[in-house]
Amino acid sequence: MISQALLILALSALSSATPFLAEFSRFSGSELVGRTSCGTSGPQTCHNTTAQSNLCCFEAPGGQIVQVQFWDTNPSTGPTNSWTIHGLWPDHCETLCDGTYDSNCDASRNYASITQVLQNNGKTSLLTYMNQYWVDINGDNESFWEHEWSKHGTCMSTIKPTCLPAGSTTGADAAYYFQRAVDTFQNLPTYQYLSAVGITPSTSNTYTYTTLANAIKASTQRF
Ligand SMILES: *[C@@H]1O[C@H](CO)[C@@H](O)[C@H](O)[C@H]1NC(C)=O
Ligand SMILES: *[C@@H]1O[C@H](CO)[C@@H](O)[C@H](O)[C@H]1NC(C)=O
Repeated sequence: MISQALLILALSALSSATPFLAEFSRFSGSELVGRTSCGTSGPQTCHNTTAQSNLCCFEAPGGQIVQVQFWDTNPSTGPTNSWTIHGLWPDHCETLCDGTYDSNCDASRNYASITQVLQNNGKTSLLTYMNQYWVDINGDNESFWEHEWSKHGTCMSTIKPTCLPAGSTTGADAAYYFQRAVDTFQNLPTYQYLSAVGITPSTSNTYTYTTLANAIKASTQRF
């Protein structure tokens, strides 16, 4: 039997000082050097009070960026002192955490090999990291990544090819998606958050939802 625990961290519910949220909504991230026309003064995603027209600079309609992490137990995957990545999902803003989202938004950008795309875009160390921390429970990492990109990544308005610098390599949109998902994961070290308050994976101890949620809330403010 396959067993996994799922942890869903909704970033827009966090403090507005959270830097990766600002990077998504205002798009000042280092990944897109040369595309600085967004500036740093627009509203953050899901916090706008008027309709935003430049969706290269404002993530919509999926402005609530959700980072989902796994704890796999059977089989166990990934390092023993870290959760692993499931994905990064642009969920709808209307009702925070209602779980609705657009999916499979552009089949013309379903790439045949994410591994190839990352290599073509000079992301070999990212690829190495993903093979350790973004792993499929059945060992088919490549299919898992293709699925996450096609289902969720193609729905992100800010990384559509028309938003990328002129002359970008094919697959630069996906390379950006995977880099940002990994950066976000590294900024949300759930294992450390929980173990810092004595919550570690166990086959005998149980933890209530409230205990877990409070520990993560406290840690995201502390770290
Ligand atoms: C925020 O901007 C998006 C994209 O234009 C729009 O769909 C949404 O209605 C806006 N929200 C508000 C409250 O104006
Ligand atoms: C893919 O995932 C598995 C874990 O399921 C991992 O052991 C393996 O090293 C990963 N990489 C490759 C290239 O298979």
